[in-house]
Amino acid sequence: MSRDVICQVDDLAPGEPLKIEIGGRELAVFRVADEVYVIDDQCTHGPGSLSEGELDGYVIECDFHQGGFDIRTGEAVIPPCMVPVRTYAVELVDGAVIVDFDQAAVACANKV
Ligand code: FES
Repeated sequence: MSRDVICQVDDLAPGEPLKIEIGGRELAVFRVADEVYVIDDQCTHGPGSLSEGELDGYVIECDFHQGGFDIRTGEAVIPPCMVPVRTYAVELVDGAVIVDFDQAAVACANKV
């Protein structure tokens, strides 16, 4: 499984993270305006589920210890998070959100 449809753009409410489980992976999916981002749901700092966090702009704040990540790059931007979270390349085709599980996010093909 390298590419798969994980949901439809219409399933995503702007600013509200959605958790998707597919192929043994747990993903956190975000829509910001007309862009879609997908990262691992598991916080790299501990047991937090990032889809249960609070999205502020492009930063998802983990609800466990309030660390944060940039959902565009996976970079840990608020301590205590230090290790980046994995991002995935997203492509939007006819309203479907397609994730490439072998590639990190690229900021070009993810616009609605
Ligand atoms: Fe996410 Fe600690 S588990 S900040």
